[in-house]
Amino acid sequence: MASVQRAAIVTGASSGIGLAIARMLGQEGYALTIAARRPEKLDDAAKGLEAEGLELQSLAASLGEEEEIKKVVDAHRERYGRLDVLVNNAGVGIGATVGEILTKRLDMQIDINLRSIVIFYRECLETLKATAAEHKSALVVNTSSISGKHGEAWLSVYSATKHGVVGWTEAMNKELGAEGIKSTALCPAFVDTPMTDFVKEHVPANEMIRAEDIAESVRFLLRVSPACVVPEIMFVRPGEAL
Ligand SMILES: NC(=O)c1ccc[n+]([C@@H]2O[C@H](COP(=O)([O-])OP(=O)(O)OC[C@H]3O[C@@H](n4cnc5c(N)ncnc54)[C@H](OP(=O)(O)O)[C@@H]3O)[C@@H](O)[C@H]2O)c1
Repeated sequence: MASVQRAAIVTGASSGIGLAIARMLGQEGYALTIAARRPEKLDDAAKGLEAEGLELQSLAASLGEEEEIKKVVDAHRERYGRLDVLVNNAGVGIGATVGEILTKRLDMQIDINLRSIVIFYRECLETLKATAAEHKSALVVNTSSISGKHGEAWLSVYSATKHGVVGWTEAMNKELGAEGIKSTALCPAFVDTPMTDFVKEHVPANEMIRAEDIAESVRFLLRVSPACVVPEIMFVRPGEAL
């Protein structure tokens, strides 16, 4: 086991928001376990972070599946023995009108966006408790969306899962807050990542929120005192209606 001062798991860390958060945490001295679905893409991200001098292991895992989640958590525990920050960020959005929703895609979005977060908490609970007992606070960051604050036509299933993430985060603060495990839901509008490629014809990439903006908000969460919980953070573009 590697002896490290601080350690984090980041899911969906092969691109976009997850990669930016992983990079920030690495720069802050966290040893990382990064996980995402496609091995080659994840490998490229891992090599890039390693070239920047960051300590990490990467695991390709399909996080809609319970056994794959357990694999990631076990590998993290075996390698680093501690967990200070858990970032539940992997997510997928598939647009469809209600009459066109395919059950397979409904299940996929629920499994990855919501069910996986529940299982990650359960599997990481004892390790997070140990960290919280040691330095009075452990942090879990759950990537929701602005669609988790307002339902969106065509993205109704995605919206429902992301509302679920906000509700779950609130419940976890009530259930685990007294033990020093703090949870924050991140609720961004359009961020310039591969996920928003479909809309860049209408909303140019340079007018979107940056993945690094989201990572900075997590840096802030690392710095607030154990006496302060930030339940959620919304990010919108200038002039955008809340
Ligand atoms: N971009 C936005 O405007 C925006 C706004 C609000 C919220 N969000 C949320 O932000 C999070 C990150 O998205 P992003 O914008 O950074 O998009 P992204 O660059 O496409 O990243 C999504 C990440 O999730 C991983 N992932 C997807 N399905 C997975 C699965 N079944 N198992 C494991 N990993 C899986 C992806 O890996 P693969 O590429 O290998 O599948 C990738 O690493 C998501 O939860 C998304 O809903 C995004």
